[in-house]
Amino acid sequence: MDRRRFLSSLAAAAMLPFAAVTPVQGQTRPRLRLAPVRTIHRGGQPVVLSAAPGSYDLGAGPRPGALLFNQQWPSPTLRVAQGGEFDLRLDNGLDEPTIVHWHGLTPPADMDGHPMASIPAGASRDYGFVVHDRPATYWYHPHPHHRTAFQVYHGLAGFLLVEDGLDETRGLPTGSRDLPLLLADKRISAGSLQYAPAMPDMMVGFLGNTVLVNGAQSPVATVEPAVLRLRLLNGSNARILNPAFADGRPFWLVGTDGGLLDAPVPVTSVPLAPGERVEVLIDLRGEAGNTLAFVSAPLAITATLPPAIAMPPQGSAFPLLQFDVSAPLSGPPGAIPAGFEPMPGPAPGPAPVRTFLLGQQGAMHLINGTSYEGGRIDFLVPLGATETWRFINQGNQPHPMHMHGSRFRVTARSGTPLASDAGWKDTVLVRVGETVDVRLSFEVPGLFVLHCHNLEHEDEGMMQNFVVGDGLFADGFEAGG
Ligand code: C2O
Ligand code: CU
Ligand code: CU
Repeated sequence: MDRRRFLSSLAAAAMLPFAAVTPVQGQTRPRLRLAPVRTIHRGGQPVVLSAAPGSYDLGAGPRPGALLFNQQWPSPTLRVAQGGEFDLRLDNGLDEPTIVHWHGLTPPADMDGHPMASIPAGASRDYGFVVHDRPATYWYHPHPHHRTAFQVYHGLAGFLLVEDGLDETRGLPTGSRDLPLLLADKRISAGSLQYAPAMPDMMVGFLGNTVLVNGAQSPVATVEPAVLRLRLLNGSNARILNPAFADGRPFWLVGTDGGLLDAPVPVTSVPLAPGERVEVLIDLRGEAGNTLAFVSAPLAITATLPPAIAMPPQGSAFPLLQFDVSAPLSGPPGAIPAGFEPMPGPAPGPAPVRTFLLGQQGAMHLINGTSYEGGRIDFLVPLGATETWRFINQGNQPHPMHMHGSRFRVTARSGTPLASDAGWKDTVLVRVGETVDVRLSFEVPGLFVLHCHNLEHEDEGMMQNFVVGDGLFADGFEAGG
């Protein structure tokens, strides 16, 4: 990254009407908040997630209008052991339907949080299943059709970490050196969140002027002069981020949506689309007493922005947080591991290709010419099949594509490769004009969705239903109710 160009684009962003920069004048930066952790385990009490209205405080005093799990801002971080039992109750204290989806996990279809499984205001539902997925940084969020964007934007989104207890053996930082950071841009005016998407916002997706980190604006994290692990989740409705150090120094990509890579890969920034996660290691040994800025660096990305939207365009620079390297060392400072256990490869061999044309009709984004209909099954996949899914972006916006019920490896991309293409994924950015192939296998029967993770696009219908199995609609449908 060219540092001069980066700094001057930060300066340019500061002059936009909605400045994308710096904390509130005359105030000290807020401290980095870490979400409370709830561990889900067999034989324990079920964890309860209670969705309800609440308030938030961005430094200008408390404001109503948030939607919170357990009155927490940010939402609790859930931890569960690989092979362990997921045991959780959702209480819907909102005044509208909701349902929670476990993004990246592959539970039985009726536990997946399909939009049709939405429960009414005041209702509850229990989730119970065995977690078979790889240890990784997953997340959870609501999925009621037409209301996902609204509910996620106002605070309903948290981390879901699957663990196997071997990270110390792997030489990975743990405990206070393992920081889950939920990055999400918001439109903020006078300390209040704004969310009133107009037609052009639906076309582009709702872009903000500020990127919050765990619910705070430009927080400071007091950390040790050691190797740290950052779990970065882009929980934005529409904004593509590009986490980096402000001074362009390298760090190491160690994991993607679906878990660890074979070995750390040096990077200077990691493009991260809505819904995607990466795990990175940063090396702060030798930085005692220093302050380092972590930012979203400028990114060259084509995305039409109608003049009606007075927000920084996709690819703009944003501050994220500062590392204040002033905590005393609690133990050996750690090192960048040479490698991890071999990562499983994608299913080999040729596989039938299923093509998804990502098109556009006015402000609507379509998949193969259609818009979502809850009662329509768009395609069937045989149980046990391996397929190649080909996404072709023919529109004027980037689309982060995500499917439930499986995970994939990227096997081809017509544009320049992205760092996260190296690992297992469940969400993949398809840029304007690009064709991306992913290889995936289907081991869970039932009804699932494929959709764009730009949440305004999704709510407007950029989503399809598919059934894995023998084609009997009833399987996934009934189970979801
Ligand atoms: Cu993040 Cu269909 O979900
Ligand atoms: Cu998902
Ligand atoms: Cu999209």
